[in-house]
Amino acid sequence: MINATPGDSSLARLTDLRTELTGKILIDVSNATRDADDGLPHDLCYPGSGLAEKLQAALPDTHVVKTLNTMLFMVMTAPETLATPPTVHVSGDDENAKKTVTGLLAVLGWQPAWVEDLGDISTARATEAMILVVPHILRRHGLKPFAVPLSR
Ligand SMILES: NC(=O)c1ccc[n+]([C@@H]2O[C@H](COP(=O)([O-])OP(=O)(O)OC[C@H]3O[C@@H](n4cnc5c(N)ncnc54)[C@H](OP(=O)(O)O)[C@@H]3O)[C@@H](O)[C@H]2O)c1
Repeated sequence: MINATPGDSSLARLTDLRTELTGKILIDVSNATRDADDGLPHDLCYPGSGLAEKLQAALPDTHVVKTLNTMLFMVMTAPETLATPPTVHVSGDDENAKKTVTGLLAVLGWQPAWVEDLGDISTARATEAMILVVPHILRRHGLKPFAVPLSR
């Protein structure tokens, strides 16, 4: 299952689905933010924690994997269209679940070198915080595809 619902209300919504989500992988692409007056993300709902971390705590029988939340939606399924190699971050407690999700990312066109497994689900709070750069990029450049890459 994929969570792509508004992040500020995802926790309550998915906690209600605890039974249905038992034993399943939950791919969480949502960012839990409060919006500015122009509707763009302005601040984090869970500073010092994160949505994925809270989802995993609320859904202990579900394997939450955070990914794809650090790019505009059009890049998620077309990473090869960017001029510079993009990065997709992956966070999750269960190694097998992350392996399954990484396989799905490959189907979407994500090359192995572009996939950055950061570690357990608590690492997702870092990628969720990256959302704070997004409104500034959108205001300056409009809705042009971009991802937040890791350059080496
Ligand atoms: N847009 C991006 O480029 C992007 C990139 C990375 C991450 N994200 C994250 O992905 C999530 C969705 O973003 P979005 O831009 O697609 O937002 P959106 O356009 O507002 O879409 C939200 C979706 O959630 C559904 N939804 C809203 N309330 C619901 C409820 N109570 N139960 C079930 N479904 C509900 C909506 O359904 P209806 O249409 O029927 O209302 C809609 O399909 C957000 O958390 C965002 O941070 C977005």
